[in-house]
Amino acid sequence: MKVLLLGTAAGGGFPQWNCACRMCSAGRDGLLTHRTQDGIAVSATGERWFLVNASPDIRAQLLAHQEFRPKPPRDTPVKGVLLTDAELDHSLGLMLLREGDNLQVWAPEAVLHGLTEDFGLRGTVEHYRRWDWHTVSPGVPVHPAGELTVTAFPVSGKRPRYAAASTMDGPWVVAYRITDPATGGTLVYAPCLREWPAGFDEFVADADCVIIDGTFHSAAEMSGATGKKADADQKSMGHIPIAGPGGGLDVLSRFPGKHRILTHLNNTNPVLDPASAEHAEVLTAGVSAPPDGTLFEL
Ligand code: MLT
Ligand code: MN
Ligand code: ZN
Repeated sequence: MKVLLLGTAAGGGFPQWNCACRMCSAGRDGLLTHRTQDGIAVSATGERWFLVNASPDIRAQLLAHQEFRPKPPRDTPVKGVLLTDAELDHSLGLMLLREGDNLQVWAPEAVLHGLTEDFGLRGTVEHYRRWDWHTVSPGVPVHPAGELTVTAFPVSGKRPRYAAASTMDGPWVVAYRITDPATGGTLVYAPCLREWPAGFDEFVADADCVIIDGTFHSAAEMSGATGKKADADQKSMGHIPIAGPGGGLDVLSRFPGKHRILTHLNNTNPVLDPASAEHAEVLTAGVSAPPDGTLFEL
């Protein structure tokens, strides 16, 4: 199975258009590599690709890689999209794929509900193309193109801000385990983790590679960048910090044999700077935060 990291930044990307934090300023000065918003693409053979999340940067991400070159007249290798959640940074790209025929979309029930009732994305794109929208239930595998086996794990009930008032039961956020039955290669992709969920150790046990939420290095990071007094903003955003007890590196240390990756890095995150102590801390833990465009096989 081929895995391509399309984008590795959190919502807003890096640098973020309206942010003058230390990191964004260094990015704007050309000192740090820019990153687009989080999403990956997976393919069993390289012929048919499935996106996991569709960020607002999807057009640039697809144009950046020959893997997604269409055959005449408009035969794209992008056959479908799986959504881990209904956040704008993970779903707005669907609007930008509206030129595509026969797209298959998979998402948890609450996510499809949110994108229909709370934010009219689905109804809007349906005026352009008739796609197939499939509900993914945790623990019940789906088989994109009959080539991959994808199973969802319920991560949390964290709703997007636009759906804060929704009474729809979750999970609103899931992780996916994606297996290529031909090779046995297995990936777990969990870009939005409030905490390490109960039972998640078992879910990742068979995975060769685990990609998790690396939004923030530490708990106070967001308040420092926005000038707000408390870290309420960051806490309500619900992302496990990389550092500290129970943080991303701490939990990943339980899986030393796996290829371990952090993604969805917020623009405030010092790990974005390869010369930082925080970046060194990640590498020393045997984990990495590779850039957009990273391709590997499982
Ligand atoms: C998140 O990951 O918490 C959301 O994408 C935040 C946002 O609305 O950009
Ligand atoms: Mn996000
Ligand atoms: Zn910034």
